[in-house]
Amino acid sequence: MTRTCLAVILAAGDSTRMKSSMSKVLHPIAGLPMIAHVMRSVLAAGMSDAALVLGRDAEKVEKAARLDGMALSAMLQTERKGTGHAVLMARDAIAKGYDDVVVTYGDVPLVRPQTLLSAREKLAEGADLVVIGFHTPTPFGYGRLLVEGGELVAIREEKDASDEERKVTWCNSGLMAINGKRALEWLEKIDNKNAKGEYYLTDLVEIARASGARVVAIDAPEAELAGCNNRAELALLEMSWQQRRRHEVMVSGVSMIAPETVYLAHDTVLQPDVLIEPNVVFGPGVTVESGAVIHAFSHLEGAHVASGATVGPFARLRPGANLGEGSKVGNFCEVKKAEIGAGAKVNHLTYIGDAFIGAGTNIGAGTITCNYDGVNKFETRIGENAFIGSNSALVAPVSIGDGAYVASGSVITQDVPGDALALGRARQEVKPDRAKAIRARALALKAAKKAER
Ligand code: UD1
Ligand code: CA
Repeated sequence: MTRTCLAVILAAGDSTRMKSSMSKVLHPIAGLPMIAHVMRSVLAAGMSDAALVLGRDAEKVEKAARLDGMALSAMLQTERKGTGHAVLMARDAIAKGYDDVVVTYGDVPLVRPQTLLSAREKLAEGADLVVIGFHTPTPFGYGRLLVEGGELVAIREEKDASDEERKVTWCNSGLMAINGKRALEWLEKIDNKNAKGEYYLTDLVEIARASGARVVAIDAPEAELAGCNNRAELALLEMSWQQRRRHEVMVSGVSMIAPETVYLAHDTVLQPDVLIEPNVVFGPGVTVESGAVIHAFSHLEGAHVASGATVGPFARLRPGANLGEGSKVGNFCEVKKAEIGAGAKVNHLTYIGDAFIGAGTNIGAGTITCNYDGVNKFETRIGENAFIGSNSALVAPVSIGDGAYVASGSVITQDVPGDALALGRARQEVKPDRAKAIRARALALKAAKKAER
């Protein structure tokens, strides 16, 4: 779209009902602050200029809202006098004379770019004010859209509505697009003569109509326009986001056996032909390539899983875990800041941290890279096609060459050259018949104690 546009994002609420130490728009959905979801939608709808109206935690909210490719200005609304008053905080920005001015709320994070674009398209077609509405069986508390002969004639707030008007189920989302050349003139006419004594942005409908402007309402799904006032609503937003994203991911070629149990982050990248088993959680920063399988009950964050690799069940990949093609990280294994070479196996009960493991190497059950001395972290390097026996402790910094063997139960504190065998454990002794003698002595002791009583 070639028209210029300013987005005004209202985020000056106190968030009282969240009962939180921070503004509600900083609370994350899919690991990303709510306000950042709004900004991404705004940018994706072609709005690269934005004015953010802030109250509580202004600095933090502004920081969380910043986005590459967007020119952001922020203004403080020190007194909350209503949505009409809030939009006017952006007076200077609006006065620059954009073609479109779009108002969105910081606590309505699921709005799709397409919906914002639809409102702008109506402006392009000649409307002067476009209100985004939604139908709901539970309209209580929302402003009602009053329509006559196909035109939006007013928005009536719950407290100001008649019984008849309260029956209307088409509601105001609060989001609207305004003819940018006339926005200021109309906004300045809003007064606070209503049941709440607030400056209602919704009065714009009647004000614009009185000056002969064309006012219309468009419809969008309720789920997309849901707001957030408390933690229960936050959880509903998370659920909606997850449902939407899982669907997109599956349609793009990813299999999920029980999608409702898989949690994605805002930036999770899953290539086609990935299989995700039930109860898998993705934290931020994960990429999984084609053909990889994530088995049940695994937790991944900041990790890369190359094609054909398998993870879990019950595996934890922490930031910096980088699994090569066809590698395996099995049950009860934790991998942090480590490369697992192509085809390498870390199959059972193991911790691999600050390590490089070469292609084709096998790490036995219970192996631990001892990477931390209580103060500093050190690296473990293991070459290709090495074999680390079960229950070995590799005390970093240490390196083990290509093709080397480490005997089970070893504590390895010195470097092991390629193709060498390293044993770091007490030598086994076998004493014939000694068990029999010990048992006889124990039985004799027990008999003597019994005789004493
Ligand atoms: C508003 C609408 C109502 C709509 C509803 C949708 C008005 C008068 N009413 O009602 O028609 O159905 O949203 O949720 O516009 N805000 C500020 N500064 C203020 C006032 C509000 O930044 O002075 C922000 C809030 O933080 C919030 C948004 O604007 O993000 C909406 O404010 P809120 O008080 O929730 O409006 P409602 O009374 O619910
Ligand atoms: Ca509200």
